[in-house]
Amino acid sequence: PIVYLNGEMTPLSEARIPVLDRGFIFGDGVYEVIPMYARKPFRGTHHIARLFRSLGTIGITNPHSEAEWLALIDRVVQANDLSDQIVYIQVTRGVAKRGHAFPKDPVTPTVFMMTSPLAVPSAEVRAKGVACVTMQDKRWLNCQIKSTSLLGNVLAAQYAAEHEVTEAIQFRDGFLSEASSSNVWIVKDGKLSAPPKDNLILEGIRYGLIEELCKSQGIVFEARRITQEEVFAADEVLLSSATKEVLPVVTIDDKAVGNGKPGPVFTKLYAAYQDAKA
Ligand code: PDD
Repeated sequence: PIVYLNGEMTPLSEARIPVLDRGFIFGDGVYEVIPMYARKPFRGTHHIARLFRSLGTIGITNPHSEAEWLALIDRVVQANDLSDQIVYIQVTRGVAKRGHAFPKDPVTPTVFMMTSPLAVPSAEVRAKGVACVTMQDKRWLNCQIKSTSLLGNVLAAQYAAEHEVTEAIQFRDGFLSEASSSNVWIVKDGKLSAPPKDNLILEGIRYGLIEELCKSQGIVFEARRITQEEVFAADEVLLSSATKEVLPVVTIDDKAVGNGKPGPVFTKLYAAYQDAKA
């Protein structure tokens, strides 16, 4: 693979960053994961807008305009011979003598971009649905920032891996937040709900998309606090992310969700999602 690092295109195996990069030392950076279908970004401007928000929130000067970011994405995509891809963008505060607070002297942010094959869940996986486990959300209170400081998410994903399931669905004080790397939705009596967009979850680009799809599909949607009991009593539970698209959850902690099969709201949203891509 050919990657982008600080203005240069280079083979991944030759890309190097200094060990004092604050991304390495402190996880002091933000990232984006953008799906590309037929080599075109899907909701690209939404992803760039979220990158701007993440950078702004942690006080890293955004090194590029929206048009420049989109051109860079295109450059990386064109340099690699893949059709459907995931473009990963990481921006860190840059290289400086180790000290927790921001460096006093101006630093140049490190910008890294790579692309990898986009492997969405297979038709088989979608037809069967996936299993999840629950756990307490032990992350910090700035989950709205798409930060590379992902230790909490890493440990949640590892917990799911150890249980041989797709995701760990997290709860804070008894209320649903999100999974280790996806947003979580519940359906009850035909109505879709998700936790509010606040500091306790990452606002997925699919969050906004699914809200729009609900309007066009006539599905009632409500953002609200959702208890753990409601999740277990739901007719359907869904996951959404750039890599999972929309995915039905059919068991949680080995208990069946609804009738244990992907439901009608999933089917409708999935079809609408595929249409939106085209
Ligand atoms: N993760 N919540 C968390 C904690 C996430 O990491 C993600 C995405 C989402 C969904 O956001 P979106 O719809 O924009 O993909 C929600 C990406 C895919 C990742 O970290 O690889």
